[in-house]
Amino acid sequence: MVIFSQIHGIIAHMSTGQFLSHCTADALSQAAQALKDGALVAFPTETVYGLGADATNAEAVARIYEVKGRPADHPLIVHLASTQLIVDWTDDVPDYAIALAREFWPGPMTLIFRRGELAKDFITGGQETVGLRVPDHVFALALLEAFHKIGGKGVAAPSANRFGHVSPTTATDVTEELSNFLAPQDLILDGGACSVGVESTIIDCTGTAPRVLRPGAITVEMIESTTGLKVTEIGDEIRASGLLEKHYSPRAKVILNQSPTVGSGFIAFSEIETPEGVTRLAAPASNDEFARTLYSALRAADAQSLSSVFVHEPQGDGIATAIRDRLSRASKGG
Ligand code: TXA
Ligand code: MG
Repeated sequence: MVIFSQIHGIIAHMSTGQFLSHCTADALSQAAQALKDGALVAFPTETVYGLGADATNAEAVARIYEVKGRPADHPLIVHLASTQLIVDWTDDVPDYAIALAREFWPGPMTLIFRRGELAKDFITGGQETVGLRVPDHVFALALLEAFHKIGGKGVAAPSANRFGHVSPTTATDVTEELSNFLAPQDLILDGGACSVGVESTIIDCTGTAPRVLRPGAITVEMIESTTGLKVTEIGDEIRASGLLEKHYSPRAKVILNQSPTVGSGFIAFSEIETPEGVTRLAAPASNDEFARTLYSALRAADAQSLSSVFVHEPQGDGIATAIRDRLSRASKGG
């Protein structure tokens, strides 16, 4: 495993592979070539880090499932360098989806379409639909562009964590999660901390109106005002691993909206004081900061071997809806 970082000036070697420095154009084209050769490349996006593979290479995609420990019937999102490239993956794009793509791509939004021929069962988990996203991160876009230039069609990437665990928001998180499972030819690109911090909004675009399958930074209000359509929200029948009951979970037990007990961890807005004997893990001043710091705070609970973490949830709409969604899943017990 190789790590490209724009921050560290060193090249170090680890048992599983090597760390390289600097996300230069060279490093990005090396990463694109690695994808083409069937390796895995973990890369930053604005939401969370993804674990990428060539979305047309069955063996490479199979390794994503292996490394994540994820059941094989869960579909993957295909990441693209630009909106025009969706025609490689679907023949069926409703007008409202075009409006959404124009408004919010590149950005924290995944659109689900009826699949085209390129989207095989190993991407869609056997479903007749495919998820597509153009992420808004300079390294992700440069990687996707370099991959496209050498004939790549798209990069399949789930969040770069073990199945059911908290998504990574830094390259260090990815290393801690996956270094035991990655191979020497695999790479990790270090693009610093993710700016959004929770996964993309997933919108089903196979019906007459958009349907939100997973809330995120692109909210129902934003979708309705862009499309002029009434948005429906998730039903339990949708098979999406992120929608399983327990997900996004640290080892520590997550307890919502209760007073923290002595010896536990605590996440709440900055104006709420830390009770005595409690470890403060995050004190965000806004909903955006809450989203950006939540996953690293949950990881910090585990790093400090805390057995429980108490969270005062943000109220209201916008990204607070996505935060409450993830927290409710994180708190769902074993
Ligand atoms: O922000 C994100 O979306 C990140 C970054 C890396 O792009 N990716 C991400 O991927 O969160 P993942 O695999 O961890 O979660 C994607 C969710 C899963 O719950 C998956 O089941 C669902 O999207 N999904 C993917 N394709 C789908 C489809 N065709 N129909 C329904 N759900 C789908
Ligand atoms: Mg995930």
